[in-house]
Amino acid sequence: MNQEIISLDEITQFQSPTEEFNPYEWYKHKLQHEPVSYHEATDTWNVFRYNDVKRVLSDYEHFTSVRTRTTISVGADNDEGKHMGKFNLMTDPPDHRKSRSLLATAFTPRSLKLWEPRIQKTVNELIAKISEAEVIDVVKDFATALPTIVISDLLGVPSQDRNLFQQWVNDLFLPIPKENTEDVQALKRRAAKEYYNYLYPHIVNKRARPSDDIISDLIKAEVDGEQLSDDEIVRATMFILGAGIETTSHLLASTFYSFLYDNDQIYAEIQANQALLPNTVEEMLRYRFNIAKMDRTVKQDNNLLGVDLKKGDVVVVWMSAANMDEEVFDNPFTLDIHRPNNKQHLTFGNGPHFCLGAPLARLEATLGIGLFMDTFSKIEPVPGFKLEDNLTPSAAGQTLSTLPVRVYK
Ligand code: HEM
Repeated sequence: MNQEIISLDEITQFQSPTEEFNPYEWYKHKLQHEPVSYHEATDTWNVFRYNDVKRVLSDYEHFTSVRTRTTISVGADNDEGKHMGKFNLMTDPPDHRKSRSLLATAFTPRSLKLWEPRIQKTVNELIAKISEAEVIDVVKDFATALPTIVISDLLGVPSQDRNLFQQWVNDLFLPIPKENTEDVQALKRRAAKEYYNYLYPHIVNKRARPSDDIISDLIKAEVDGEQLSDDEIVRATMFILGAGIETTSHLLASTFYSFLYDNDQIYAEIQANQALLPNTVEEMLRYRFNIAKMDRTVKQDNNLLGVDLKKGDVVVVWMSAANMDEEVFDNPFTLDIHRPNNKQHLTFGNGPHFCLGAPLARLEATLGIGLFMDTFSKIEPVPGFKLEDNLTPSAAGQTLSTLPVRVYK
């Protein structure tokens, strides 16, 4: 990834981790007063309203995913940390189609059906471990553990190695700070190298003995007569890992935070009617996925957003702000699990790059939270919890590092 990384902190200028975790005032201000604005220090355009964000994400004729400057800090700048070769999703149609099709072979509705019982088993095992506890750390014991185990299982690597995965994902996902840049880059390089060296022999073995997992699907995948090499499969899975773990952990942790601190009636309401759960997950994606943003580069001069955009300009689109646009969502700053149109949120993107893992993330969240609720009839906050002391920076914004919860059977 020989790209210049743009610091989001410089754009948002949040004064504390808590403010970043609850960026609603900032979004409100931007939506009303600066819906398309130029930020000089980072030389970026920032876009907040729903229709504009959707346009930039989907209109690849004018806004390209091929970047030289980006806000995405995931990955590393050494050979092992780059996503390249035949498998490159940072492209536009028609080039993008081949990489996407190769990867999509592992994410079919059939795969989802096969995965469901495996996810269920993982959730049951996690819950069995905590079922006797009175207080749990829902981040460590559940929100982080679930997607990590699920992805290592689906990739077909031994789940006892999942702590390794956890560490690599943490490191590869670190945002690049303004200070200590080199230290963070060094951590990322090491994580990418270790991950690559760990996975490569697994793939060679899988070629000889394929089974029901994503790596075996990728080995078999063929588009226009082309297949992925072992090297490309390692890189593809590193991308899946990055795309799939931290995001889903963040969703699960934020959901429990909302159950405890945003609206303490929701848990009981869903307990009484679990049919509300899928819509609740959508509302969490809309309301509590605080820092969903993406960037594109202007491909040809245009005025599509009402300002003069020049070829090469970087446009940062704030999906989380678009999810608060009152033109689309009534009372957007209220958490409402009955909201009829919350599936219109842009948290999974829009257009040709729409998240391939969205059905998996939804499945993990609904199954995971549903089974959790089957075991624990009630949850309560633990007195003394201070949000500010329990947040940690990640590419998904400020993420909860711990969230103690008192649980009742
Ligand atoms: C709450 C969870 C998740 C969120 C919020 C999320 C969000 C996103 C977003 C916004 C994009 C679009 C990027 C763009 O427009 O350039 C994307 C793409 C992608 N996501 Fe997710 N994601 C999640 C979970 C997952 C999972 C579980 C996986 C796989 C295991 C996954 C795999 C992918 C892949 C492969 C792409 C690239 C698609 C392409 O470029 O064609 N995601 N995701």
